[in-house]
Order: sequence, then C-alpha cells, then structure tokens
Amino acid sequence: MRFSGVAAALWTSLASATILQNGQVRPNDYPDTTISTISSYNSSWHTYPPSAPELSYKGRWDDKFISWWSAPGLKFGFQADQVAISFGNYTSDGVLVAYRLDGQDWMLTNVTSSTTHLFVTPSTTGYNLTTPANATQTLELRVTNWAYGVQIQCVHVSGGAARLVKIPNYTRTMELIGDSLSAGQYATLEGLSSYSWGLMYGLGNVEFSITAYPGDCLHEGRCYADITVINLGTNDNNTANNVTATEYYNSYIQLINEVHTRWPQSQIIVISLWSGFGQVGNTWQQGAGFLDETQNVVKYFNNGSLNQQGECSSCFVYYFNTTGILQHNDIGPQYHPTDVGHVKLASHLMQYIKLTFGWILEHTGPEVQHDTLYWYVPLAKENDEEDY
Ligand SMILES: *[C@@H]1O[C@H](CO)[C@@H](O)[C@H](O)[C@H]1NC(C)=O
Ligand SMILES: *[C@@H]1O[C@H](CO)[C@@H](O)[C@H](O)[C@H]1NC(C)=O
Ligand SMILES: *[C@@H]1O[C@H](CO)[C@@H](O)[C@H](O)[C@H]1NC(C)=O
Ligand SMILES: *[C@@H]1O[C@H](CO)[C@@H](O)[C@H](O)[C@H]1NC(C)=O
Ligand SMILES: *[C@@H]1O[C@H](CO)[C@@H](O)[C@H](O)[C@H]1NC(C)=O
Ligand SMILES: *[C@@H]1O[C@H](CO)[C@@H](O)[C@H](O)[C@H]1NC(C)=O
Ligand SMILES: *[C@@H]1O[C@H](CO)[C@@H](O)[C@H](O)[C@H]1NC(C)=O
Ligand SMILES: *[C@@H]1O[C@H](CO)[C@@H](O)[C@H](O)[C@H]1NC(C)=O
Ligand SMILES: *[C@@H]1O[C@H](CO)[C@@H](O)[C@H](O)[C@H]1NC(C)=O
Ligand SMILES: *[C@@H]1O[C@H](CO)[C@@H](O)[C@H](O)[C@H]1NC(C)=O
Repeated sequence: MRFSGVAAALWTSLASATILQNGQVRPNDYPDTTISTISSYNSSWHTYPPSAPELSYKGRWDDKFISWWSAPGLKFGFQADQVAISFGNYTSDGVLVAYRLDGQDWMLTNVTSSTTHLFVTPSTTGYNLTTPANATQTLELRVTNWAYGVQIQCVHVSGGAARLVKIPNYTRTMELIGDSLSAGQYATLEGLSSYSWGLMYGLGNVEFSITAYPGDCLHEGRCYADITVINLGTNDNNTANNVTATEYYNSYIQLINEVHTRWPQSQIIVISLWSGFGQVGNTWQQGAGFLDETQNVVKYFNNGSLNQQGECSSCFVYYFNTTGILQHNDIGPQYHPTDVGHVKLASHLMQYIKLTFGWILEHTGPEVQHDTLYWYVPLAKENDEEDY
C-alpha cells in the first residue's frame, strides 16, 4: 500500500501542542474527576472487568482494551447512583475524554494512566431527570485526542441496583478510512470536532470506526461497513512523499478491491481531495490534488455498468465531489479544516448519504459536536435580548 499518512507519521509523537482558538490559548482546565481510590469515595462498589459483556466498545480497541485512532468510545447502561472507571497503565497521560450521561451535553475531563475517575453521581446534571426514577441510564465515553489512547481496567458501580446493563448495538455500520484531515488534527476537540465524527455520530444509530491506516483495518476484522468512506491522497499529492499519479491510482484501486473483498455489501464513497486554497489574482481558488486520478478510480469500477441515462444499479463506488463545499477561510493555518469546515463537510456528506442510500437522519437532539454554541453578544446586553 503506497498511501502515506500524516496521521500515521504523527502517531508516534504525542499530541501535546497548545491549541489556539483565534490566537488565544484554548482554556483546558477541565474539571478533575479523579478519586484517589474507589474505597475512599464509597465502600460499596460492584466492579466489572473490561471484558464484561455489558460494556459496548465503539470504534477501534485492541484485545488489551486500549483505544486506537480517532474518537473510539465505551458505552453501557447502568442502574446505580455512582459510576467510576479505572484506567490502565497504557493510558496516555492527560488524554482528554468526553463523556455524557444519556442525552446530556458532553462533559470533558483529562484522564491519566492508573487512575480512577468518578463520572456519575446523583448530582450529575440530568441524573435526577431520569424517568422513571431508577430506570437504566447510559454512560458514554469518547477519546477526543486522536493521537492518544486510554486503557479500560474496570468499571465500578454503586448505589441502587449497582449493576451494569447491556444495551443493543446500533444497527447501521460505517467505516471511514482517512488521514489527519479525517482524524480531526488541529480541530478544537480533535476527533470530536472532525467531519468524520460529525458525519457518523451525527447520522445516529451507527457503529463506526475512523481508521487512519487501512492495512490495520483490513486484517484486524473489527471494521464495520455498510458504507465505507475513503478520504486519502492529500499526503500522497505532496512532493515530499514522492508518490506518482499512477501509483496513487493503482493503490486506490487495490484498496477498494481489498475493502470490497472483505465486505462485498459495502457501498464505497470516494471523497475528492480539496487540497487547500490558493490566491489567484485578487481572489481564491480551490486546489484539486489527483483530480483526474480520483475520478478515474471511480470510473474504473463503474465502467461498463452505466445505462444510457448514466445510472448504475450494480455500482458500489461513488464519487463525492467536495468542490464548492469549503472556501478558503474554512482551512486553518495548519492546512486542516477549521471546526466550521468540518461541520460543512459532515453536513454535506450526511445529506449525500441520505439522498443516495435513503438513510434516515436518526440522531435528532442531543449534542454531536461540543463547544459550538456561540453567538453574538451585544455590548452590555444579555444575548437573548432581541431589542438591542
Ligand atoms: C502495565 O501493567 C501490566 C500488568 O500489571 C504490566 O505487565 C505491564 O508491564 C505494565 N506496562 C506498562 C507500560 O507499565
Ligand atoms: C487536558 O487535555 C487538553 C487537550 O488535550 C490539554 O491541552 C490539557 O493540557 C490537558 N490537561 C491536563 C491537566 O492534562
Ligand atoms: C435535580 O437536581 C438539581 C440539583 O441538585 C435540582 O436543582 C433540581 O431541582 C433537581 N430536579 C429534580 C427534577 O429533582
Ligand atoms: C455510597 O453509596 C451509597 C449507596 O448509593 C450511598 O448511600 C452513600 O451515600 C455513598 N457514599 C458516599 C460517600 O457517596
Ligand atoms: C430508587 O432506588 C433507591 C435505592 O435502591 C430506592 O431507595 C428508591 O426508593 C428507588 N426509587 C424508586 C422510585 O423506585
Ligand atoms: C456488538 O458489536 C461488537 C463489536 O463490533 C461485537 O463484538 C458484538 O458481537 C456485537 N453484539 C451483538 C449483540 O451483535
Ligand atoms: C523518489 O522516487 C525516485 C524514483 O523512484 C527515487 O529515485 C528517489 O530516490 C525517491 N526520492 C525519495 C525522497 O524517496
Ligand atoms: C497533485 O495533483 C495535481 C492534480 O492532479 C497534479 O497536477 C500534481 O502534479 C500532483 N502533485 C504531486 C506532487 O503529486
Ligand atoms: C472503460 O471501458 C472501455 C472499454 O472497455 C475502455 O476502453 C476504457 O479505457 C475504460 N475506461 C476506464 C476509465 O477504465
Ligand atoms: C465537481 O463540482 C464542481 C463544482 O460544482 C464542478 O465544476 C465539477 O464539474 C464537479 N466534478 C465532477 C467530477 O462532477
């Protein structure tokens, strides 16, 4: 496989950089959820091992219960008053996780290796709104830093029935194969701000995985695929990586053949490369890396299958044209989409999948992205006053 990867290359160097929002250091003093030991907090815990069947792992995890790549998660139901999770020694120090009780907004906290964190108590927002009281609630946790991982050591519950409850898997499955653009690098909440997340979590009822290195996915067998979305080539289209157009074309065809062999039912969406923007005269123009090659890959699979109207019922490879979705100010100084750019890509892809495959948008209320609720605040006025 000739695809090179910015994401793959950076995996080895930890993502400890300061994140700036419009030149200001982003506040990152998230509430500390650590408890020194669980017995110091409460002596009546019921502890489940990481292999407990009640625990649903989302995205990519290995057999040591270590999370990988972008936005992997853990979700489970519980009937209890307190929920705590102990993280194993393979957890990256300070990794930022998002967690939520049922459909409450995401909360954020940093976790570190060999620590225990208290995520739910009766004072957690939303806890006392559960109806009927003592009904099963869910806790979901997602790793936001795409280059960091956590290791689940055990899950503890106390109070009430003090038990975990298995919740059903989602019924739709997707796989996204990409590079750092898809992993959310340089976005405010990294994986949780990425278009991949916005698309697949945003569609709702989807088991999904965001993979930055396709080879792993193909032999590991924990991938999902009613729909596979591929966004690769931006790195290949960089002189530093010395990949020729022919190599790119051939590698892409090989990758699609591998995906199709593994999941013959999967529909495959090829995302055209937007490749940044350049100033032309006194305006801006979108770049287009490997524009012909990417289209020729799609044609290679569809050639001969089109009827006279240009339609194709047996085709499984689709071209998603990104031209015109992003504008120059949707790309940040590090050549990756801004949060807004990610949201635009996700929204267009959602609509494309709805129109092309008839998928219903099933996520209809709780937050998907976080920290995106901002609006104009007139000076010396409350922001909900209309008469300013
Ligand atoms: C993590 O803990 C396991 C079991 O206690 C031990 O075998 C392993 O060497 C530890 N690994 C690291 C990186 O500390
Ligand atoms: C928490 O995570 C954020 C985002 O990765 C990071 O900037 C910050 O330094 C972390 N804080 C701690 C205390 O680890
Ligand atoms: C839930 O708890 C909050 C904070 O303790 C309290 O203000 C609120 O009245 C409670 N709501 C219900 C429905 O009990
Ligand atoms: C421990 O859990 C029990 C059962 O939920 C509860 O009554 C008690 O208040 C808890 N103790 C602390 C210190 O939270
Ligand atoms: C909820 O569970 C607690 C602890 O088991 C119990 O005291 C309380 O009566 C229960 N409430 C309802 C409405 O069942
Ligand atoms: C749910 O998904 C996981 C991970 O893909 C899989 O191992 C498990 O068998 C699934 N459970 C059911 C009930 O389908
Ligand atoms: C680029 O490719 C050419 C031809 O295959 C090879 O001779 C050269 O060493 C390569 N350069 C790098 C930096 O990989
Ligand atoms: C990138 O793609 C464009 C458009 O296909 C092509 O003109 C250019 O030569 C490519 N550059 C590299 C380094 O692959
Ligand atoms: C499509 O098929 C025709 C006839 O077999 C062939 O000449 C042409 O090169 C093919 N085009 C592509 C893009 O594969
Ligand atoms: C992609 O979209 C642009 C802008 O609408 C259009 O000019 C171009 O022809 C499209 N390319 C393909 C292959 O459909």
